[in-house]
Amino acid sequence: MKLSTKHLLGIKDLTKEDIQLILSTAANFKDVLQRPVKKVPSLRDVTIVNLFFENSTRTRISFELAEKRLSADTLNFTASASSVSKGETLLDTVNNILSMKVDMVVMRHSASGAPHFLAQHIPAAIVNAGDGINEHPTQGLLDAFSMQERTGKLEGLKVAIIGDIMHSRVAMSNIYLLKKMGAEVTVVGPPTLIPKHIKEAFDVNVTYNLKEALQWCDVANVLRIQLERQNQPLFSSLREYNLAYGISRKLLDEVGRDIVIMHPGPINRGVELDSDVADSNNSIILNQVENGVAVRMAVLYLLANREN
Ligand code: CP
Repeated sequence: MKLSTKHLLGIKDLTKEDIQLILSTAANFKDVLQRPVKKVPSLRDVTIVNLFFENSTRTRISFELAEKRLSADTLNFTASASSVSKGETLLDTVNNILSMKVDMVVMRHSASGAPHFLAQHIPAAIVNAGDGINEHPTQGLLDAFSMQERTGKLEGLKVAIIGDIMHSRVAMSNIYLLKKMGAEVTVVGPPTLIPKHIKEAFDVNVTYNLKEALQWCDVANVLRIQLERQNQPLFSSLREYNLAYGISRKLLDEVGRDIVIMHPGPINRGVELDSDVADSNNSIILNQVENGVAVRMAVLYLLANREN
């Protein structure tokens, strides 16, 4: 089987079959990653550049590790240490890199739509590693893989996505993916951090009451407040946000249900999530990070394989 798309720009463009193919391929790669020899020759002679125009810890390391495990040749580009600071455009930067015979581009950019723009202008396959507030497709895929691994299903799963929905590309990719796979989604947060027409546009439930959402869900995917993307205050203070929407052990004990806790990272401990929840047995946060490597191996392998 092959993916229906040349690029991975967003979950929005994937079919249900594409998602199933990526998740099952990732499961095979996760098995490979448990072996003493974790490297396979699948992408030998494939050259991949990781273009990061915005900061990253998990995604960048995870892509680089996935590429190395697949035996690809990898190049890393950091905007702040490049000729972008001298005024070079995105397209010129990428075309110069591609002229050195690069096959695939992994890109993170603060502008929503930047990878879509590139896809219209260059021949290489592009993987979106997060674009502005639009999508973070490999995060959506690794989140789904981790939910399925822990709960055994996606169809019928009740997932609460909690926090700054308005500025979160992770929320968007999760919503697209979970709805395509038959999960139920509730978004939770202050009214100012939830897009107005999200219920009608994406067929999700909306609540401003965290406890109500926790009494309903199987999985709570907790998001960071994206202060760097807010150009005006959208809630009174982090302390008050924590009181209304922070997940504490006391709150989970009051709810009295065995909820799976997820977070894409980076966590702001004591704001959206307390440490005794983030580090508890309910939490699969580090499993998400582990699974990210297998999921990204699957994406890179399937996109490269599509060309053959
Ligand atoms: N989850 C995520 O995208 O983390 P980074 O910003 O560290 O890559």
